[in-house]
Amino acid sequence: MNNKYVNFVFLLMSGLLISGCSEQGDAPKASVSSSQTEAANVREVIKIDPTLAAEGEAIYNQNCAFCHQADAIGKPGFAPSLTNQEFLRVSSDQFLMGTIRDGRAGTGMPPFAHLGRKQVEAIVAFLRAHAKQPNVSAEIDAQPPSHGDERLGQFWFDSICITCHGPNGNGYAAGGTGTAIGKASFLDKVTDGFIRVTIRDGRTNTRMIGYSGPASMAALSDDDIDDIIAYLRTVPSKD
Ligand code: HEC
Ligand code: HEC
Repeated sequence: MNNKYVNFVFLLMSGLLISGCSEQGDAPKASVSSSQTEAANVREVIKIDPTLAAEGEAIYNQNCAFCHQADAIGKPGFAPSLTNQEFLRVSSDQFLMGTIRDGRAGTGMPPFAHLGRKQVEAIVAFLRAHAKQPNVSAEIDAQPPSHGDERLGQFWFDSICITCHGPNGNGYAAGGTGTAIGKASFLDKVTDGFIRVTIRDGRTNTRMIGYSGPASMAALSDDDIDDIIAYLRTVPSKD
């Protein structure tokens, strides 16, 4: 059966229930909850189906938990968190599904194409169920590309990022805790907006701090950040 259709009907029904019985404390089971995420939910239909999310949890536990840990909290230097709030906020379904399907060549992340689209969708629904903030991937992916200076970017990268992300952004292989952000298998799947916002905001409760603002250890300007993106984009061709 077509999941999108089922979800749409579900959404419609829960909307009617909420507006119809707003006095009742007994909210419809698995209500879509807050209005803050409603708009995003409508766009990203697969994340709101609790049955699908439960199915996804089982598939996740079988295939992913060994590396990404229970509840996908990650393990430094081994596998990143997939339930981190900033991560979920900026990640589109396309990015998540594509990364799960293809894995990341040259890293410890294997491809899961054999699971098929339905099971991967269920995993994404499970991950999405952890999101407490609206998904802003559409806006972020629509940001203009970087026009930075790759040489300045390399300077910043080698001064700040290399400690964790390794030389040329090779990732864990170099012994750090940062992922392989210099590999084509990462870069080909993300927009400059995704990279920009991640550098700016960081990822709470991971070693990835945000690099803008006075609270960060090294404050980088928007231009500095775009220089780094320009550099990263050149790295795969140098391999
Ligand atoms: C053998 C260990 C291993 C298994 C099993 C594994 N992963 Fe990964 N995964 C990794 C590693 C390592 C990375 C980071 C790769 C890098 O350095 O870029 C990663 C990265 C990812 C990313 C990108 C995260 C980010 O921060 O951009 C996603 C999404 C992901 N994995 C999902 C999954 C899902 C879903 C499964 C199960 C279907 C899974 N992984 C199974 C090791 C694993
Ligand atoms: C102290 C270690 C550390 C430093 C320094 C660091 N990072 Fe990270 N970075 C991480 C970790 C750890 C993650 C993944 C978070 C996780 O494990 O869940 C990450 C994730 C990222 C991601 C997302 C990658 C993905 O797989 O989705 C980008 C992009 C990134 N960092 C860029 C940078 C840049 C650019 C710099 C330098 C300005 C930098 N980082 C400095 C530790 C670091």
